[in-house]
Amino acid sequence: MSSSILVTGGAGYIGSHIVLQLLLGGYKAVVVDNLDNSSEIALKRVKDLAAENGPNLTFNKIDLRDKPALEKLFASEKFDAVIHFAGLKAVGESVEKPLMYYNNNLIGTITLLEVMAAHGCKKLVFSSSATVYGWPKVVPCTEESPVSAMNPYGRTKLFIEEICRDLHLSDSSWKIILLRYFNPVGSHPSGYLGEDPRGIPNNLMPFVQQVAVGRRPALTVFGTDYGTKDGTGVRDFIHVVDLADGYIAALNKLSDPSVGCEVYNLGTGKGTSVLEMVAAFEKASGKKIPLVKASRRPGDAEILYGSTEKAERELNWKAKYGIEEMCRDQWNWASKNPYGYDSTN
Ligand code: NAD
Ligand code: WQD
Repeated sequence: MSSSILVTGGAGYIGSHIVLQLLLGGYKAVVVDNLDNSSEIALKRVKDLAAENGPNLTFNKIDLRDKPALEKLFASEKFDAVIHFAGLKAVGESVEKPLMYYNNNLIGTITLLEVMAAHGCKKLVFSSSATVYGWPKVVPCTEESPVSAMNPYGRTKLFIEEICRDLHLSDSSWKIILLRYFNPVGSHPSGYLGEDPRGIPNNLMPFVQQVAVGRRPALTVFGTDYGTKDGTGVRDFIHVVDLADGYIAALNKLSDPSVGCEVYNLGTGKGTSVLEMVAAFEKASGKKIPLVKASRRPGDAEILYGSTEKAERELNWKAKYGIEEMCRDQWNWASKNPYGYDSTN
């Protein structure tokens, strides 16, 4: 019988890509999502892309903080492991509404862990973030680099990591992998799945994509005076399909008896500047992206990229795609879905 994996937040940008890889890999995927920042259309498309494996996907519209609903789900089905994405992720919003972030991300996670424990499901892959490295003094960041949060969103990730460590200390039968990933971009190469943020995009590539399709006049470049090759911020962009493969590798690792509570970086190990990324997107799309130079965005790090040696060594995983493929696939998604999933409504 195939393994059954519960994916919280599985209708979201990264979650939908992982659900597809799970189905293609022969897993059964059960998605829990409250659709606060996603569309059920994404899951319909995942089913189509998974072809004959599509029926192995089921969806439950549940808020993770709804303990009775989660209890009912766990009572009805046995899960081999949980991949946990559900959470709020907008940095600026977390500064304005910290309680909303602590409530959703922390209470959602604690409720999930309580229900997992009660049902003897003790294998978890958690979506942490490279945001826990704050403004690093030394790059590339390794899993041993100092951590610090620059905003409430980042603090929820740090707190959840600590909760997971405490849980494992209290009961060593828990197997937990914390994935700190860098800047996921791009889309499934089919162009049918991608990122569809609500409102004005906070992140670079969704904004660039909306300029390219004519939804916004220009990209504001936050900071042109950093001590980097061209003065703009440097990040470790990772193709979302590579990230999905990293999740499958982490899931496989949970069966290794030596795993306790482990952290892994997922990135490419390469730093790319904002202007380099814009140039790569212009090349891939044939569209000119008008730029407006602005001052630095508060809370932004200058250079952030990671070492992926530990994941390569222990998960046997390495990113395959570069920025050309990321921009090609991002544009394929954008041009086919200029208004995201709503384009097909
Ligand atoms: P997303 O917003 O597209 O997906 C998150 C999903 O969780 C959404 O579908 C949303 O509706 C759902 N959700 C939120 N709160 C919920 C709740 N209480 N109950 C049920 N569902 C809930 O975001 P994403 O980019 O796919 O990110 C997924 C995870 O990865 C998040 O935890 C995020 O913090 C983390 N992460 C994202 C990035 C990034 O840049 N996208 C980088 C590092 C880590
Ligand atoms: C990248 C670069 C911006 C938008 C965020 C979260 C982090 C993680 C990934 C979840 C920076 C510049 C951006 C724009 C710009 N998410 N930029 N104009 O800030 O590295 O990371 O997403 O965990 O926690 O903080 O990503 O895409 O927002 O910014 O110039 O309109 O692009 O200043 O240098 P960031 P980003």
